[in-house]
Amino acid sequence: MDRIIITGGKPLKGRIPISGAKNAALTLLPCALLTDEPLTLRNLPRLADVDGFGHLLNQLGVSITVEGSKPDEFGRVMTLRASNIASTVAPYDIVRKMRASILVLGPLVARAGEATVSLPGGCAIGMRPVDLHLKALEALGAELEIAAGYVKAKAPPGGLRGGEIRFPIVSVGATENALMAAVLAKGTTVIENAAREPEITDLAKCLIAMGAKIDGLRTDTLTIEGVDELHGATYAVMPDRIEAGSYACAAMITGGSLELVGARKETMPSIFSGLQDAGAIIEDTASGIRVSADGGIKPLSLATAPFPAFPTDMQAQFMAMLSLANGTSLLTETIFENRYMHVPELNRMGADIEVRGRSAVVRGVEKLHGAPVMATDLRASMSLVLAGLAAEGQTEVNRVYHLDRGYERLEEKLQAVGADIERAGAG
Ligand code: EPZ
Repeated sequence: MDRIIITGGKPLKGRIPISGAKNAALTLLPCALLTDEPLTLRNLPRLADVDGFGHLLNQLGVSITVEGSKPDEFGRVMTLRASNIASTVAPYDIVRKMRASILVLGPLVARAGEATVSLPGGCAIGMRPVDLHLKALEALGAELEIAAGYVKAKAPPGGLRGGEIRFPIVSVGATENALMAAVLAKGTTVIENAAREPEITDLAKCLIAMGAKIDGLRTDTLTIEGVDELHGATYAVMPDRIEAGSYACAAMITGGSLELVGARKETMPSIFSGLQDAGAIIEDTASGIRVSADGGIKPLSLATAPFPAFPTDMQAQFMAMLSLANGTSLLTETIFENRYMHVPELNRMGADIEVRGRSAVVRGVEKLHGAPVMATDLRASMSLVLAGLAAEGQTEVNRVYHLDRGYERLEEKLQAVGADIERAGAG
């Protein structure tokens, strides 16, 4: 298994190109199932999860061509075509490796009238149930049967029917499945308490480009007029707000200044307000946003919550940054029940963090020390890389396959702005 070796202490300066958003790509790819015409997606990030989703779609009968892009270019152009649906089964061995596979459920039932999808099961950060995905499909008339770890969903005769979906809590994935199912349902669907994450807006804009009728973008109430069929389209994936926020933390934790090329401020309101409160200087540039450290890091109190509040996917990265703050910070994780796996590893690097229930008390220390550490999940891995970039000495991050799921060519991007970082084979 690959490792990443970092010698910390260098302020990072320069420009980092921000790739297409993983969490937008993973909900745009299954849209190809909703039409027999080609869907071309541009600015797709080169990530393990994107490749994995492509493999699943192949198994369902989707043909995929990837337009050659030069090795040093970021972003790929992928054209997907589901002329026919060859299979409506998403098998356990694929779903268990990539939970986002559950996002084929809505499109398959909408297009093919049925789907059999392995229940994804939990992951490192929590139980990750999908009950809200299933309730949404039932509200559109689907009949569900759960057996042997699979959910089998069947549309009623004549196909899914528009309905009222009221989510008791905000769920990004369930909103995405509901939206992709509703666009071909007969009649009107209203989704209340819909997630408002920018990736949902990206999905809605892509579906509208394919001929869907959706109102209420960027709000918590989406109204969908079902149409008989959708057509092909070309759509560019939005830039990754979490990747951009992660590199902004790299600028702060190393005392440097990084331009996040392609980042879109309106998708990152609470990330930038958090960085400013921590003492960052944020400047708009011709091609993105520059984030610069300005002396020390100020302590913060932050709670994660659905967009537009502070995103749970940035909690671990902020924690690494705040471990060097001039004072004590309080972080509260309200979305997932087990998203503090980075804490013991950061403490092994000299941080002083104490988890108390859903909160973590982060007492700022003078410095961090390099150490061999273990990545457990995607964003925890990034927090360890960030700590390594600031630590004195060498840090070795193991199990970097977690990182490869969400950060395109991480070492190259960081080397280009002065980081002493390299990937090595198994130790
Ligand atoms: C998406 O996961 C993202 N993944 C996650 O990013 C992100 O952390 C999360 O949204 C929250 O923003 C992708 O987009 C591929 P949820 P998702 O449904 O859709 C509970 C990363 O690091 N819930 O919004 O699975 C759930 O347990 C990943 O890029 C139910 O109870 O998240 C959680 O407590 C990690 N029942 C809360 O809702 C359900 O049916 C929010 O989960 C669904 C969710």
